[in-house]
Amino acid sequence: MVTHQVDFEPIGRRHTCPKGTTLLEAARQAGVGIVSICGGRGTCGHCRVRILDGLAPSPTEADGKVFSPEELAAGYRLACQVEVLSELRVHVPPTSLTTPQRIQVEGRELAVPLQPAVRSYKVELPPRALQDLRPEVTRLRDALATQYGLKRLTVDSRLLPRILLRLQEWDGAANVVVRDGELVDLLPEGRLPLGLAVDLGTTKIAAHLVDLTTGETLEARGAMNPQIAYGEDVIARIAHAMEGEEQAEELRQAAVGAVNDLAGELVALVGRARQEIAEAVVVGNTAMHHLFLGLPVRQLGLAPYLAAVIDPLDLKARDVGLEIAPGGYVHLLPNIAGFVGADHVAMLLSTGIYRAEETVVGLDIGTNTEVVLRTGGRLFACSTASGPAFEGAHIRDGMRAAPGAIERLRITDTHVEYQTIGDAPPVGLCGSGILDAVAQLLEAGVLDEKGSMREHSRVRRGKSGPEFVLVAQGEGGDGREVVITRADVGEIQLAKGAMRAGINVLLDEAGLSPEDVDKIVIAGAFGTYVDVGSAVTVGMVPPLPLSRFVQVGNAAAIGAKLALISTEQRALAEEIARQVEYIELTNDPRFVGEFTQAMFLR
Ligand code: FES
Repeated sequence: MVTHQVDFEPIGRRHTCPKGTTLLEAARQAGVGIVSICGGRGTCGHCRVRILDGLAPSPTEADGKVFSPEELAAGYRLACQVEVLSELRVHVPPTSLTTPQRIQVEGRELAVPLQPAVRSYKVELPPRALQDLRPEVTRLRDALATQYGLKRLTVDSRLLPRILLRLQEWDGAANVVVRDGELVDLLPEGRLPLGLAVDLGTTKIAAHLVDLTTGETLEARGAMNPQIAYGEDVIARIAHAMEGEEQAEELRQAAVGAVNDLAGELVALVGRARQEIAEAVVVGNTAMHHLFLGLPVRQLGLAPYLAAVIDPLDLKARDVGLEIAPGGYVHLLPNIAGFVGADHVAMLLSTGIYRAEETVVGLDIGTNTEVVLRTGGRLFACSTASGPAFEGAHIRDGMRAAPGAIERLRITDTHVEYQTIGDAPPVGLCGSGILDAVAQLLEAGVLDEKGSMREHSRVRRGKSGPEFVLVAQGEGGDGREVVITRADVGEIQLAKGAMRAGINVLLDEAGLSPEDVDKIVIAGAFGTYVDVGSAVTVGMVPPLPLSRFVQVGNAAAIGAKLALISTEQRALAEEIARQVEYIELTNDPRFVGEFTQAMFLR
């Protein structure tokens, strides 16, 4: 039997399959989950891949319906249409991946020269001579001065008492971690310092554990933000914090505790200890930033929505409760204004939008969506409260992106085809599934522009009005049914209306119309997996050719990582934050009009 090897990138999975196997089947055999809601019949158009090396077969009719001639020439194909006839190297974009693989492709990496704030130096103290009465810390400082020219080093007060014991335990051999003339950590010989980059989102927290000597991400993980228990959006959390110091402290501890837990989980995965993390960078919107640091938020909740701090901060990690190296620091990137915070700066940094020559709109979709417009050398930004609907909240059968969540959906006449995460029996709808459902119902004529549901064999009257049965009783996991209600559609109208209105106000500010936009960059966990076609159908984004959209993953987390491994990037972040012209939408009369219009589905 003739076999061929297929490399799936950027997942890095390699698989050998018999000649003639479809690429979709080869991916399945390799454990690479490719979205295939039509089951490989070539009708859903979701299993898009790009052949980088090897024999790309002639496009089929199905390929021709999905890709432009330029895309076909560039090697784009539907995985279900490709027979493996040679060794292949294939790129699988995040939008074609089912969730279990998504963690591995969290954002587009950008190569920057390594220039971390901390550096480690290998030291071996010679055995103590009888007449040498210098304390261990002095011997260590003298050795660093002689070997590396590091003079007048200060020593962190928490590290000071540990130096004697550690050096005795390790026979005088250690890696000394220095930051800006200060000794912040001591590691056993052969252990190099780690860094932690955190995107503290309103709903989710993402963290990367990074080797600070190579810049490589060792592990990345996400967790829910436990502050959710105190309110789903930033306004509810600010209200809770305003109840009193105790309540504000509850919120601070919830966030800090979650970051400590994530850091613990990450270091355990690579067999290291939390104390080996020498530096952390945390980004979040202004409210998350302030709640994490225990800064006052009252003024953020009231017009004119003033931040307490916008400058970048370098703080002792222990002072904010982060349990990393004894003398380790946490760096917080600058905020911009209002709710547009350090996470947006991080997103601008990692996507390169700040230096784009063409007209670019950037959307960082979350419970709060930040919108940026780059045009004519200027940067405009605003923040819209898009709410947690795309996280599955406030939706009757909504759920997080977990096994069993419908993530892709197609409706033809009375038939509903769907793809669930992990191919598990359907139990609910995650964000991309909800958006697909609304777009498909609109295209099928079941919804009108106002979001009202028309008669259909699958529409019935539920407790709170009409609802469309996507998965009938007995068909779903645990026999559950999955429906989308009129009220759910209303939640999506609010969320997408807020985003679109934000885009339109920025375009108006710059004197542009949607057709002037050359590129739309969509970031954020939901933004990565959303079907752009569905987003266009419901009017969440302007109706531009799909080739103008780019989905970049968790760009804020990648920006935090860039700031972690490069002080130059930190300086650049500060420059970018100063360049941004912030538009406060709450008091902007244009926003109300745009929002009312953008609530329509079209
Ligand atoms: S699985 Fe290939 S088009 Fe649907």
